Amino acid sequence: MNKEVDMNMYMPTRLITGEGCVKKSAKQIKALGERCLIVTGKTAAKACGALDDVIEVMLENDQSYAIYDGIGQNPKIADCMEAAKVARSLEADVIIGIGGGSPLDAAKCISVLAANPDMSQDVLYSYQWENSPLPVVCVGTTAGTGSEVTKVAVMTNLQGLKKSLNDDRLFPALSLGDYRYTLTLPELFTRSTAIDALSHCVESYFAQKANEISRCYSARGIRILLKQLQKIEKKGAAALTAEDREELYNASIYGGLAIHVTGTCMPHAVGYFLSESHGIPHGTACAQFLLEFLAHNRNVDPEYCDLFYNEIACKEQEFTDLIKEVTPKYEIVLEEAEINELHTRWINNASIKKGRGEITADMVDNMLRTKYVK
Ligand SMILES: [Fe+2]
Repeated sequence: MNKEVDMNMYMPTRLITGEGCVKKSAKQIKALGERCLIVTGKTAAKACGALDDVIEVMLENDQSYAIYDGIGQNPKIADCMEAAKVARSLEADVIIGIGGGSPLDAAKCISVLAANPDMSQDVLYSYQWENSPLPVVCVGTTAGTGSEVTKVAVMTNLQGLKKSLNDDRLFPALSLGDYRYTLTLPELFTRSTAIDALSHCVESYFAQKANEISRCYSARGIRILLKQLQKIEKKGAAALTAEDREELYNASIYGGLAIHVTGTCMPHAVGYFLSESHGIPHGTACAQFLLEFLAHNRNVDPEYCDLFYNEIACKEQEFTDLIKEVTPKYEIVLEEAEINELHTRWINNASIKKGRGEITADMVDNMLRTKYVK
């Protein structure tokens, strides 16, 4: 028996994409509850038109709603606790997240906290939830996170560390993806979110749990992203057509579907640290370690690597060159003492362990040393 073809997957989210999908899904939204807490960041949900569309649906459906727009990048548990209070005062029975990964992940977290008054962070992460989370609707406005189709919410905990919540009860009930919301994404954000999607696809392909289906998602996502990232590199994001934006959005969903089977690996685990300590946008932070991850996998299983480059229809050199070109560079300097301090974080790290072949804490130390100690 070949274990790499065994499958085990569960994805109960209804996913609807395409132009006008929010307004077209008014009935499905209404069916989830009468009172809605809408969760967004400060500006993007309004600027791209998604919030207006959701409010139009609320009015058409005669649903009551409140808006919590206090979710920033690397969403905080503390903010979710605040939002949950708003949800409870509204007696909300559904949470609607509008945005990129941060508001979508926050919506999942709030859905647990709103259903379980005064829940502490420890109980939240223990998954001993007395009441089931409220249903969540995700309205995607970037092409990167894939959170629309995962049961993961990456939160910044009360100690300032990024830590995932991961539970079957966190799958959104409904996810809506209208690529037109991504048309106005600025250059840097288009890049960092597209690179996040690329990281998802690559990490998933080389995860131990990768199977026939997840590899199809990964390879398809990468093929699209290769084409679109080359365009962005040559002409800039402003030159992307509506069709390109739609392809990018779909690629982000492929990435989400891939990691919902496998989880993410070392680049995400270490990338979280760069976001926390150096404020580097999530996708870009993870991509800093993709080349090392690929090199590791070349050593671990050359044949599997060959299969990867075959399936993505790209030569290894060409692929690694593109990653170098599209990943923004940062002047990061780490002290030896910081590396030593971080060491325990990489021991028994769940994401790092998800990859093929062993990546020890010492190997991560060395990678960081080589890259950042001057
Ligand atoms: Fe990510």
